[in-house]
Amino acid sequence: MPSLYDRDGVALSKLQKLRFFPLALTGGHGSYVVDETGRDLLDLSASWGAVSLGHSHPALIEAVSGALQNQAGASVLSATNEAAVDLAERLLDLTPGIGDRKVWLGHSGSDANETVARAVTAATGRQRIITFTGAYHGGTAGSMAVSGHSVQTHAEKSDGLISLHYPDPYRPVDGDTTGASVLETLKHRFETDAPPQDVAAVFIEPIQSDGGLIVPPPGFLKQLCDLCKNHGILTVSDEVKVGVGRTGRFTCADHEGFVPDFITMGKGLGGGLPISAAIGPAEIMDFATSFSMQTLHGNPICAAAGKAVLDTIHTENLLENAAKTGGYLIQSLRQLMQSHELIGDVRGRGLTIGVELVETRDSKEPAARAAAKIVYRAFELGLIHYYVGMNSNVLELTPPLNLSAQEVDEAISILSKAIQDTVAGRVPDDVLMGFEGW
Ligand SMILES: Cc1ncc(COP(=O)(O)O)c(C=O)c1O
Repeated sequence: MPSLYDRDGVALSKLQKLRFFPLALTGGHGSYVVDETGRDLLDLSASWGAVSLGHSHPALIEAVSGALQNQAGASVLSATNEAAVDLAERLLDLTPGIGDRKVWLGHSGSDANETVARAVTAATGRQRIITFTGAYHGGTAGSMAVSGHSVQTHAEKSDGLISLHYPDPYRPVDGDTTGASVLETLKHRFETDAPPQDVAAVFIEPIQSDGGLIVPPPGFLKQLCDLCKNHGILTVSDEVKVGVGRTGRFTCADHEGFVPDFITMGKGLGGGLPISAAIGPAEIMDFATSFSMQTLHGNPICAAAGKAVLDTIHTENLLENAAKTGGYLIQSLRQLMQSHELIGDVRGRGLTIGVELVETRDSKEPAARAAAKIVYRAFELGLIHYYVGMNSNVLELTPPLNLSAQEVDEAISILSKAIQDTVAGRVPDDVLMGFEGW
């Protein structure tokens, strides 16, 4: 009898796989998933941050089954529905913004970012967009076109895309730890080959996530936004991974003291169901009809899930939990640094955390192979997490927002053992065969 994982290998296309170890799931509860052998594994990825309330949360079960028992159509294209309108109203209340704003509902972070990229250029008549090296805004053509991640070198870029370094305090380019040189570069581009009146928007990840969980230097994003706003350039905060409470505040931009024109959200908004949102100025969001639509956009079942996530964040104080338990997780990981030379840096906000691995702390040489072995060994020992980064050497932790302190202790103990086993050479090279990761 072939295993579920083997059947997946035969039946499902590789085009959509990003695999780190042979995980086949049959269920889940809270912060744990259950694999095909019946084993419980502590999930500190939460499916890349999507399972924001943990698996099978009662509020989500109730909302989704309720919406299905009396199904109000399937979309907002040609009829509205209450769940979609409620969700949009809630998002407008929960997010910062100036003037009249509107909400666009989609399925994924990719479609939300693609919609904004297309709308800002078409509505303003300005053709260029500013992005960052290492940025991941999605996997559709239009979202890849404004991204800068090494995994997407095959993708066609948007015309005249302006790409800036994302200032990384751990790996400063030419010693610039504040991002001042990035701002100088942009000003110089504005004066030379990239006149600001040609630029529609800047896409910002307030923590650069798939690029390596990079927390920008204090004040940098605010200065960047001020500079752009002075030139009428719209600011877009891509909060697909870090929004919806994951950093301990509802939006991550809030930590950085800037008010973006657009906010995009996805992943955790649906708690595991596909729903995304773009929130932005009404004059752009209403500049045309039928401009960016898919049959199931504004789906009432997914919108009901989104509402349940927002309600539960409020009723269960999950912003506070993300800040507190995230703080405890960061502190525990920093303690691990004392026994593991391989850990070069631990950073993050709330429950958005990166652990950068290096060959030695002096050289900061990225330890990519060790990262791949550690996530593999952790899987064997009962912990799910993955690695990210332009150098494939940053462990990413984006657990459910209701993670407990005991679960942090369990994760730390497994991770410590996985690092020990890797360093001691107890994880053979051949286990990684077929698991390329990023
Ligand atoms: C910051 C950011 N934006 C957009 C996306 C794309 O989201 P999705 O894969 O849900 O389309 C991701 C996915 O990792 C992301 O991290």
